[in-house]
Amino acid sequence: MGMEPRATSSGLQRQFVSLVLRELWQALDWKCEDRMALDVGCGSGDFSACDLLSRLPEDMVILATDSCPSAVSRAADKYDGTRLCFLELDIGAAHIEDTGVWRLAPFSKIFSFFSLHWVQNQRVAFQNINKLLSPGGEAVFIIISHSRLFTMYESMAKSPRWSTYMEEYLKYVTPYQELNNPEHQFTMYMKEVGLSVKTCRNQRDINYVSTDEQNIIDTVRSINPFMGRMPKELRESFIRDCVREAYRNGTLRCRRLPGGSSYCFRYDALVAHVVKPWLEG
Ligand SMILES: C[S@@+](CC[C@H](N)C(=O)[O-])C[C@H]1O[C@@H](n2cnc3c(N)ncnc32)[C@H](O)[C@@H]1O
Repeated sequence: MGMEPRATSSGLQRQFVSLVLRELWQALDWKCEDRMALDVGCGSGDFSACDLLSRLPEDMVILATDSCPSAVSRAADKYDGTRLCFLELDIGAAHIEDTGVWRLAPFSKIFSFFSLHWVQNQRVAFQNINKLLSPGGEAVFIIISHSRLFTMYESMAKSPRWSTYMEEYLKYVTPYQELNNPEHQFTMYMKEVGLSVKTCRNQRDINYVSTDEQNIIDTVRSINPFMGRMPKELRESFIRDCVREAYRNGTLRCRRLPGGSSYCFRYDALVAHVVKPWLEG
C-alpha cells in the first residue's frame, strides 16, 4: 500500500474480538501439526501480544503481520519475543509467493480482525489466505461490512479543507458497504478459493459503548487511514471535524443518562470461521 494507515488497536476492536474469540475458540482444532499462527493486519500488535498469544496453546507461536512498515517496526520494538514476531505483509499482494511470510508458511491458523475491509480485491486476499494455510488449517475473520463512518469519509472528502488528503477515499470504504447480503458475497468468495465455511454471519448494529467520549474519539482516530497523509499540525483538527461529522450522520451517538453520558459507535461486521479442506487421496 502506498500510504500508511494509522495502525492502532482500539477499544472497539478489542471488545468485539474478545467476544467472538470466546464464542469460536472451542470450535477450533488445536491438534494440528504446524504450530505457527498468522495474524494479518496486526496494527500496533497490542491485540496479538495481549489477547491472542495468551489464548494459544503454549507450544504455538504467532507471526504478526501488517502492510504498514512503521506499524510493524513499532510493534516489533515493543513485543518481539520468543513466541511472537513481526513481518511486513500486504495480504492483497499479487504474488504472495515472493513475500517473506511465504517462506514461513504454511500456517495452521490465520486470524484477521478489522483489517480485511481495507483490501478492495477480496478475492485475491482470500486466495492468498488459502495458499498460506496448511491443509486442515483454519481462519477466523472479523471484517467491517457496513458503517456510516464510510459515509463520513465521503462527506469529508468533499470538503475543500480535507479533499486533498482524501482523494482516493473509496479505497478505504469496506467493499461490502453497499451489499444487502454481505455474507452471501463472502460465502461466494470462499467457494471460489476453496475454503469451507464453518461459521459466517453478518452481525448488524454492533455497538461499541463507552462512558468515556475519548475512547470513542480514539476509535475514530485508530481506524482512520488518512491521517498519515497530512502534516502533523493538521491531524487533531481533522479528527475533530471527523468526529463532528460522525455525530451528525449518526455513526456516533451520545445518550444522556442520569449518572452521566454514554457514547456509542455503531457498525456491522462479518464474523467467519473457515477451514481449508484436507488434500484428497
Ligand atoms: C484497525 S487495525 C487492526 C489491528 C488489530 N488487528 C486489532 O484488531 O486490534 C487494521 C490494520 O490493517 C492493516 N492493513 C490494511 N491493509 C492491509 C493489507 N492489505 N494487508 C495487511 N494489513 C493491512 C492496517 O495497516 C492496520 O494496521
